[in-house]
Amino acid sequence: MTQKGQVAQILDSRRRGHAPGEVPIVKRKVSVLGLAAICTFGLAAWARAENPCASCHEEQVNAVRQTVHQRAAKNDARFCVACHGDPQKHLESGDKADILGQETLAQWQAAEKTAACLSCHGPSRLEFLNSPHHQGQVSCWSCHPGVWHQPAKSAGEPCSGCHRQEAASFRRAYRHPVPEGKLACVSCHDPHREQSSEELGRERCVQCHREVGGPFVFPHLAVEDGCLTCHAPHGSTNRRMLVTAGNGLCVRCHSQSNFPGVGKVPHNFNLAGGGRCFDCHSEPHGSNVSPLLAPRLLR
Ligand code: HEC
Ligand code: HEC
Ligand code: HEC
Ligand code: HEC
Ligand code: HEC
Ligand code: HEC
Ligand code: HEC
Ligand code: HEC
Ligand code: HEC
Ligand code: HEC
Repeated sequence: MTQKGQVAQILDSRRRGHAPGEVPIVKRKVSVLGLAAICTFGLAAWARAENPCASCHEEQVNAVRQTVHQRAAKNDARFCVACHGDPQKHLESGDKADILGQETLAQWQAAEKTAACLSCHGPSRLEFLNSPHHQGQVSCWSCHPGVWHQPAKSAGEPCSGCHRQEAASFRRAYRHPVPEGKLACVSCHDPHREQSSEELGRERCVQCHREVGGPFVFPHLAVEDGCLTCHAPHGSTNRRMLVTAGNGLCVRCHSQSNFPGVGKVPHNFNLAGGGRCFDCHSEPHGSNVSPLLAPRLLR
């Protein structure tokens, strides 16, 4: 079965017996009274209609109160049920065997963990099922500790632990200032969905670098394929994060059999003494003034 189908099935089995799309709402009610003897909760709490697990599992409920889910877990057990399953029997017996506990949850695959979160976040996060992270068995839990009663890992860049090689490329001399905190991995990547190479290799770039995005009167056709033809998006040992140093960048496409004849024009003179293409062709992204992308040195 596809992973997507698997999640759908998990979600479906969790919902069985409930209205579609709805996680069972378990409010404190009469069936809980069977446990009243071993659990000291007063009538006041009863009337406040708070989370029905709170009286016996104060530690966990209080921990949730420190998180983004404090409101989601306040008045009923929907939040707890997303992971621990239907608690009805447990509420009657107080037996830990009657609820999905530590042992069961420890065996959950990524798809099951993700399904627990999607039971509420499904509508806005369904694209996650097509993401490289889901395909790679990474669940919501891997990146979002500290949103239930599990304490958060120490803060830090949440991506680098798994993507060491990419993190290392940000130590190169010319790089996007991620280590400096001026932007983050998520400035470009959305870890929740699949991104097209067009989006990642261009659209996202020109959101911040508008001046190079054009449109230009004289576009440079090389930019049509995006920015990654010439730039390494994370970092590079070459200035301006170029993929290749020096004239090699341009000669890849513009070299001719009569090199250093470039195109139809002899460049022997231009290139003598270490001339760089960029010294004269100073508008590599496109130009509004020069079809030759701005040669300054007209002979
Ligand atoms: C996102 C999943 C998730 C949610 C939501 C969740 N739990 Fe848990 N719970 C776990 C996991 C996983 C464990 C196993 C121990 C651990 O890793 O902390 C656990 C363990 C427990 C335990 C056993 C603790 C122990 O030390 O043996 C209790 C009790 C518990 N949860 C109660 C709750 C209550 C009450 C709520 C709602 C306020 C809740 N949980 C919401 C995942 C969840
Ligand atoms: C009246 C008391 C009481 C209420 C209410 C209650 N529980 Fe429990 N729960 C217990 C007892 C007792 C245990 C067993 C503790 C032990 O053996 O350490 C337990 C154990 C658990 C465990 C651990 C299971 C395991 O195998 O690790 C989980 C999870 C849990 N409860 C979830 C819930 C959830 C979710 C709710 C609310 C829907 C809830 N409980 C409501 C009394 C209660
Ligand atoms: C019972 C439904 C429910 C479940 C299950 C649930 N969430 Fe939420 N979550 C919410 C609601 C509702 C909010 C909005 C909280 C608010 O505004 O008070 C929220 C907020 C969040 C936020 C903060 C959003 C923001 O804008 O800052 C994150 C992150 C989050 N949830 C992640 C998760 C993850 C990861 C899981 C699974 C481990 C999960 N949630 C499970 C209902 C749920
Ligand atoms: C690979 C890591 C990763 C995974 C997997 C992941 N998230 Fe996130 N999530 C993040 C990061 C990082 C942010 C903060 C984004 C930001 O600041 O723009 C975030 C933000 C959020 C938010 C806050 C709202 C927002 O858009 O900023 C919610 C809600 C959320 N995630 C839910 C989920 C759910 C549900 C899942 C599983 C279906 C999930 N996430 C899987 C890393 C992840
Ligand atoms: C728990 C480990 C883990 C964490 C944390 C994590 N990733 Fe991933 N990531 C993976 C795995 C596994 C894959 C899929 C396998 C692969 O392609 O490497 C993946 C894939 C990706 C891909 C797609 C790679 C491709 O080849 O298309 C990107 C982009 C990515 N992650 C970015 C991020 C970002 C950004 C963050 C932080 C918000 C993050 N990851 C956090 C494990 C992780
Ligand atoms: C300025 C935008 C930007 C930032 C910031 C950024 N990335 Fe990327 N990343 C990209 C682009 C664009 C690609 C696509 C590269 C390609 O297709 O050759 C990419 C590719 C990746 C891949 C896939 C690698 C592969 O070989 O296919 C991973 C994993 C990744 N990035 C992780 C990260 C992590 C982790 C961070 C933060 C430490 C990060 N990225 C920061 C733009 C960015
Ligand atoms: C979230 C905003 C943002 C996005 C998206 C972004 N950049 Fe940047 N970029 C920056 C910042 C900030 C700097 C550092 C500028 C500085 O230090 O003056 C930078 C620097 C650069 C530089 C070096 C400029 C110089 O003066 O040395 C290049 C080249 C570059 N980015 C290309 C790209 C490409 C290609 C992409 C898409 C893959 C991209 N950027 C996406 C914000 C962004
Ligand atoms: C044909 C190769 C090529 C392509 C494609 C390309 N660039 Fe450049 N880019 C360059 C060169 C060459 C420089 C200047 C290097 C220098 O200063 O020595 C540069 C410089 C930059 C700078 C530094 C500021 C500036 O204007 O000089 C930014 C930012 C930048 N490029 C972003 C982008 C973005 C975003 C894209 C995609 C829309 C892109 N580049 C596509 C070759 C390219
Ligand atoms: C990925 C291939 C590629 C790269 C790399 C590339 N170009 Fe181009 N360039 C082209 C194409 C294709 C054209 C359009 C040629 C045509 O219309 O005959 C072009 C056009 C030009 C033109 C306009 C002259 C003309 O014939 O229309 C100049 C000048 C130029 N490029 C300079 C450069 C410089 C300088 C660099 C290095 C920064 C560079 N190119 C890198 C593919 C590339
Ligand atoms: C000293 C300045 C200078 C340098 C350095 C230079 N060029 Fe030129 N280039 C020019 C001038 C001026 C023209 C227009 C020639 C003319 O009309 O006589 C031109 C024309 C071109 C053309 C258009 C030719 C045609 O087919 O119409 C291309 C392509 C080109 N250069 C690429 C390059 C590349 C690639 C490099 C680096 C290897 C480079 N140039 C280095 C000045 C320079």
